[in-house]
Amino acid sequence: MAGSSIPGGGGGLPLFTTEKPKRMAAYRLFSGTIFAGILLIWLYRATHMPPRHSSGLGWRAWLGLLVAELWFGLYWVLTLSVRWNPIRRTTFKYRLSESYDEDQLPGVDIFVCTADPALEPPMLVISTVLSVMAYDYPPEKLNIYLSDDAGSAVTFYALYEASEFAKNWIPFCKNYKVEPRSPAAYFANIATPHDACSPEELCRMKELYEDLTDRVNSVVKSGKIPEVAECSCRGFSEWNGAITSGAHPAIVQILIDRNKRKAVDIDGNALPKLVYMTREKIPQEQHHFKAGSLNALIRVSSVISNSPIIMNVDCDMYSNNSESIRDALCFFLDKEQGRDIGFVQYPQNFDNVVHNDIYGNPINVANELDHPCLDGWGGMCYYGTGCFHRRETLCGRMFSKDYKEDWASGVGKAEDANELEGVSKPLVACTYEHDTLWGIEKGVTYGCPLEDVITGLKIQCRGWRSVYYNPTRKGFLGMAPTSLGQILVQQKRWSEGFLQISLSKYSPFLLGLGKIKLGLQMGYSVCGFWALNSFPTLYYVTIPSLCFLSGVSVFPEITSLWCIPYIYVLVAAYSCSLVESLQCGDSAVEWWNAQRMWLIRRITSYLLASIDVICGMLGLSEFGFDLTTKVSDSQALERYKKGKMEFGSISAMFVIICTIALLNLVCMVLGLGRVFWREGAEGLGPLFLQAALCTAVVAINYPVYEALFLRRDDGRLPVFIIPIALCFVSSLCIQAM
Ligand SMILES: *[C@@H]1O[C@H](CO)[C@@H](O)[C@H](O)[C@H]1NC(C)=O
Repeated sequence: MAGSSIPGGGGGLPLFTTEKPKRMAAYRLFSGTIFAGILLIWLYRATHMPPRHSSGLGWRAWLGLLVAELWFGLYWVLTLSVRWNPIRRTTFKYRLSESYDEDQLPGVDIFVCTADPALEPPMLVISTVLSVMAYDYPPEKLNIYLSDDAGSAVTFYALYEASEFAKNWIPFCKNYKVEPRSPAAYFANIATPHDACSPEELCRMKELYEDLTDRVNSVVKSGKIPEVAECSCRGFSEWNGAITSGAHPAIVQILIDRNKRKAVDIDGNALPKLVYMTREKIPQEQHHFKAGSLNALIRVSSVISNSPIIMNVDCDMYSNNSESIRDALCFFLDKEQGRDIGFVQYPQNFDNVVHNDIYGNPINVANELDHPCLDGWGGMCYYGTGCFHRRETLCGRMFSKDYKEDWASGVGKAEDANELEGVSKPLVACTYEHDTLWGIEKGVTYGCPLEDVITGLKIQCRGWRSVYYNPTRKGFLGMAPTSLGQILVQQKRWSEGFLQISLSKYSPFLLGLGKIKLGLQMGYSVCGFWALNSFPTLYYVTIPSLCFLSGVSVFPEITSLWCIPYIYVLVAAYSCSLVESLQCGDSAVEWWNAQRMWLIRRITSYLLASIDVICGMLGLSEFGFDLTTKVSDSQALERYKKGKMEFGSISAMFVIICTIALLNLVCMVLGLGRVFWREGAEGLGPLFLQAALCTAVVAINYPVYEALFLRRDDGRLPVFIIPIALCFVSSLCIQAM
């Protein structure tokens, strides 16, 4: 397009590039050999079936293993889609600033959602809010909205305090180029003081921050709003009536209003707009959780600022990179390649994860490999936080070739804040959405626990592309759960939601038919069918071990040639996964821990999720939405840092974990004893693979035995779980013998 005149100047150079890594051919060849191995395994299973009339476990176990191996093989083929076609994006922010003057940049509305002041402490929420208010972006173009689903006066108070603190914090960040711009994160890691900033200045800021923390936390404790605040901010009068988290009127309060003269920071610069919102809630009305609050935010923001770009983050995910908006705009504003980009998703990263995390939390492989592959298929999924959208895509627009975004759109008129509040309140009343397309065609979709993923998929089906952007300095840092119970509950919710999607009319294969690429449909299905891995996995870690105990061979003899495909597939797949982890920046210990979590998740979360979905389809139960807490006690935190699994309170999931761990231990010890007692070492030949499998399960479960027998702290497994698990183990063993 040389020579064409482009509004906003600039040479029309691309604002981002897309690269493909080399050596993909070798990887594909290698995958081909694994696939050949899988075919041979299937062939072996199909042709070596023991005679039906044979006694004991024999042929039934065999049939089950055939089904399990068929599933694993097919699932492995699905996972190829998230390895096949990775791409890497790089942005050129300097070209963005060459092409667009500051006042030509589009407005950006940022949504932060919180739901419960007990689980999500107000200080956490406002640190996130402050980090996004301090983005390196013209403040006149930036609007921050906090949706508080609990309608809590304490959260409103914290936000009010944050709006005052911002007058010092934002100039401090901008003058001294402070990173990260969440005050909590910044002052927690002050070990590297900022050279540009004088110690006195730093000290002053720190004191202000500590005052803020003290004030907010004391109000959190007492629940009483100080009179000073009530006098200086009229918004508090909204809380005069009886207000509970389940029943309250709509409240919209503009805390920082750019049209007011006092809305400037201590240097006299404008501040971003700051809006508090809570939807009306009536106990008998559906409120659709986070999806409902995002939709309410879309409507409220459309009358207050109506920026063409919307970004949303969860309240525990602060911005760790003040340039993220500019990075995201490089995609949307690119003249050639950006026209059909509907949203830009950033990866999820955590700042509370310790080195060699016992839960295998670092999700580097997903972030560095799986997601770039989805991007390669033209459709990174939307995961509900750390994502920039065009407003139009969220409002249900189809992509069409001649669509042209009006980047200058937005509410520019100097309207009175009181008036705007009055206009927006009816938009967040309970009844507003009745008989509208909200939650169906418009906004975030309702009726499923993974509303964000479906919303993203629908946007892609309307012809938009999505982009995954993973800069070296991460854009957003959140909190990973640090107890096994929390993780398993979260995983159950996700895997259940995904399975529901896959079996519904929203399945990527149905919804995306002819609209998105097959690779992307498969990519979605990798998570879509997570839960179904539970049954074959459970089968694989029980039946071969029980057969080993009773001396029934279900794998080829170690001297047989059929052993080769088994060993090759296992060694190749696992070494490949280890190498990938190491390349993506995990340590070997983290990889090993992730393998354990993989097993535990499959036999607990995924199992219960599958059962729930099946029950749901039979009309036996309904799903709910449980929030995971963002606070954990200090002793538990200490144990987490020492790499001890946190079990704590009893749950059915832990019984399953213990049963499997003890079963394999018993089978290994008694089975090996039996073989050597009766036949000596040669007797192991036909049972070798089973012995190895059983031993591997025992080895990976070491922390479970530790929590059962060795530890004395509060996070260990309760003692009475041992007899329960032993009951299951002995009844299984007796049946097998
Ligand atoms: C977060 O930001 C800080 C400060 O810029 C940086 O040192 C750190 O590496 C970032 N964290 C991640 C995970 O990228």
